[in-house]
Amino acid sequence: MLFIKTKDYTQMSQKVASLLLAQVISKPDSVLGLATGSTPIGAYENLAKWYTEGLVDFSRVHTVNLDEYMGLDKEHNQSYYYFMKKNLFSKINIPDENIKLPSGVVKDFDAECLSYETYINALGGIDLQLLGLGHNGHIGFNEPASDFPNITHCVNLTESTIQANKRFFEKIEDVPTKAITMGIGTIMKAKCVVLAVNGIGKAEIVQKAFFGPVVPSIPASILQFHPNVIIVGDEESFQLISDRI
Ligand code: GLP
Repeated sequence: MLFIKTKDYTQMSQKVASLLLAQVISKPDSVLGLATGSTPIGAYENLAKWYTEGLVDFSRVHTVNLDEYMGLDKEHNQSYYYFMKKNLFSKINIPDENIKLPSGVVKDFDAECLSYETYINALGGIDLQLLGLGHNGHIGFNEPASDFPNITHCVNLTESTIQANKRFFEKIEDVPTKAITMGIGTIMKAKCVVLAVNGIGKAEIVQKAFFGPVVPSIPASILQFHPNVIIVGDEESFQLISDRI
């Protein structure tokens, strides 16, 4: 695991964006695995800016997102599709047909999970997977569990995740309680993983996930077994590990 410590959120975002930029420049038809949450917003801003400045071309890139809420359609302003459109896709030249997220509103979720996994495999797998980190160690929406789920699947969100997500909704009853997410196996198959983290609130989980035992109760800990992981964090989130990196 490579740890890159940056000063603050701004620098963390620049570093994460530059890793994505390098990926797309070196392989213009890259398959990028993308993430939502507040952490990657700054990185997406940088990418959009660099696209405007002519530094990068996304016309041959494909993207697959980690997850989507069950029950929210694309137009819902809290769907992850909407988030991605707003924060990145509407600002760069990626063709619509190259963008893929799981659908939150299908009739047959098992079929959707399988077809999402098949779609990723048919693209040749993910070149670079961007991840955030949940306070409980979740990646995508792989919540703490008794095993590491392999492929794309449906999950019940934990109470702590529902509580963490309520800031985006008017009332707690509006927060979805289920999601569809890439599995741990899907993520582990990515050729490279970049995990972005910031803020003092993540310091404890960073220490547990990357310097503690590999256990399914902390899903991100599995990344210790991935051969090509870069963790980019700010000083606050790396506070408890700074003497070990
Ligand atoms: C959500 C997303 C995750 C994300 C996490 C952390 O649960 N499904 O992909 O990493 O939130 O969010 P934040 O970056 O806002 O801390």
